[in-house]
Amino acid sequence: MNQAPELEMRSPQSEPVPVVETQNLGKFYRTGFWMNQKIESLRSCTLTLYRGETFGLLGQNGAGKTTLFKLLLGLVRPTSGRASLLGKPIGDRPVKQRVGYLPENPYFYDHLTGWEFLEFAAELFQIPRGVSRRRIPELLDLVGLAKSAAVKKQMRQYSKGMLQRIGMAQALINDPELVFLDEPMSGLDPMGRYQIREIILSLKDQGKTIFFNSHVLSDVEKICDRVGILVRGELICAGSLDELLGTAATYAVTGKGGDRETLENWLENFDRERDSWQGHLTGDPQAFLEHLQADGGQLISMNLSRLTLEEFFMRQLRDRGITSSS
Ligand SMILES: Nc1ncnc2c1ncn2[C@@H]1O[C@H](COP(=O)(O)OP(=O)(O)OP(=O)(O)O)[C@@H](O)[C@H]1O
Ligand SMILES: [Mg+2]
Repeated sequence: MNQAPELEMRSPQSEPVPVVETQNLGKFYRTGFWMNQKIESLRSCTLTLYRGETFGLLGQNGAGKTTLFKLLLGLVRPTSGRASLLGKPIGDRPVKQRVGYLPENPYFYDHLTGWEFLEFAAELFQIPRGVSRRRIPELLDLVGLAKSAAVKKQMRQYSKGMLQRIGMAQALINDPELVFLDEPMSGLDPMGRYQIREIILSLKDQGKTIFFNSHVLSDVEKICDRVGILVRGELICAGSLDELLGTAATYAVTGKGGDRETLENWLENFDRERDSWQGHLTGDPQAFLEHLQADGGQLISMNLSRLTLEEFFMRQLRDRGITSSS
């Protein structure tokens, strides 16, 4: 288990409260005509999310993000390990009442209006009519969907952005403590993404715990307290941005001369124009300088710069020999 985040989340007033806990959670599917092929979708995942935090899960297509959500929501059964939500083993019925979920590809009843759809979702949670009549307009307001559109328009007339908003409202209909959002920004234009980000931040202000995944790394970087990276079913790291990016210090280096091959080996994004060059150094600066001097090169500048989450993510993939989304 990752110890560092626990230290970081601890405040003088209160101990962090675990809301999602997984212990060596794993899932494989059997496929093929004879069911003799095994797809390991999630491998021995150990992770804790604390009350009130926003946790972003990153991973390429097929990395296992949705599988982890489905396991936690009790939609598929684990093949190994265990997990709990809000202190109860996964699958616990009363806990489901306290959890919200925006699926990756939500299915909407096209012929219903948004309002009818939210009423339907409220009924599934057995929310009294009086309560849902109050809550639905509040939610429409929160997700920025005009009441007139929700009342009058059938969902087949909705744009992708409107559907995503109504999906978000559906995920919040039971005023959940813990919300799972599977690709909430998918397919949205920059304004739509910005608005979903704002909604997530307002949920965070309400003290809700948010577990979401996204391909849009800049969004994740802007709103998450902690981030986890899944690579081919394996959670390879989890931590705050400071913890993850801080450990991957990089130097923006410029110089002149030296041996091209050595420089290319040492520097990422190496670029040379005539005798001058620039690049990013991630290795030991002292050792780099010694090599440079030995090759007759000259250092002009070396500035510490932090990686972006995207660079960090790409580096994790590269270090594992993954170059394309496969
Ligand atoms: N029901 C299933 N039967 C067989 N294999 C499955 C099933 N569900 C998922 N998988 C496989 O498990 C792996 C992980 O899939 P998952 O949907 O969790 O990935 P993901 O990270 O959510 O990807 P994406 O970013 O494309 O949504 C993939 O190889 C996928 O093909
Ligand atoms: Mg998915």
